[in-house]
Amino acid sequence: MSSIIISPSILSADFGHLAKDIEMINRSEAEWVHIDIMDGVFVPNISFGFPVLKYVAELTRKPLDVHLMIVNPEKFIPEVKALGAYIMNVHYEACPHLHRVVQQIKEAGMKPAVTINPATPVAMLQDIIQDVYMVLVMSVNPGFGGQKFIAHSVEKVRELRDLIENSGSRALIEVDGGVNLETGARLVEAGADALVAGNAVFGASDPEDMIKRLRML
Ligand code: DX5
Ligand code: ZN
Repeated sequence: MSSIIISPSILSADFGHLAKDIEMINRSEAEWVHIDIMDGVFVPNISFGFPVLKYVAELTRKPLDVHLMIVNPEKFIPEVKALGAYIMNVHYEACPHLHRVVQQIKEAGMKPAVTINPATPVAMLQDIIQDVYMVLVMSVNPGFGGQKFIAHSVEKVRELRDLIENSGSRALIEVDGGVNLETGARLVEAGADALVAGNAVFGASDPEDMIKRLRML
């Protein structure tokens, strides 16, 4: 049986007891930990910054899947690297010189991923798909956990799967926003390799079991 990469988003964790929730992720079958960094400019919210994440990174035993929802993300490559990040996701919409940023992330020794907002067409990735480790498809408008899944995202995943196959790229497809057992099943059927899940995991009565169930989709 194939298994899906699950990346629980700590944005939905209990910030008063973050260490406890990170321990749960460490014990679980999750592959990665998803970290959402926001600046109040690129998205209408602010999450956590590097001083807090330093402690999160120390407690976490899974590779960090860092999602930067900020303008000029290239400015923070050294800080993201210092956290020990495995993947650095930058938004297509935040990078006029995306090719350069992708190379800089690689040079820093991290896996480059490009994120697209719900209104950004998959076709915009045609000239960068060969250079990235992963594409992160936003299935909500970024900024908040617990939002409603945008149904059209399933079609985008299908289109992206075609683009990847036709270009000979080996990029992974990750989806972020409103993922649960029902939407997750549709995304996996369409070709997703990895699912971010915030509310579905931390809102579940048994978060560890929810990770296991998402992984088996
Ligand atoms: C939204 C973030 C997501 C968020 C997902 O801006 O990028 O990673 O935590 O949360 P859920 O799974 O609750 O939609
Ligand atoms: Zn995210």
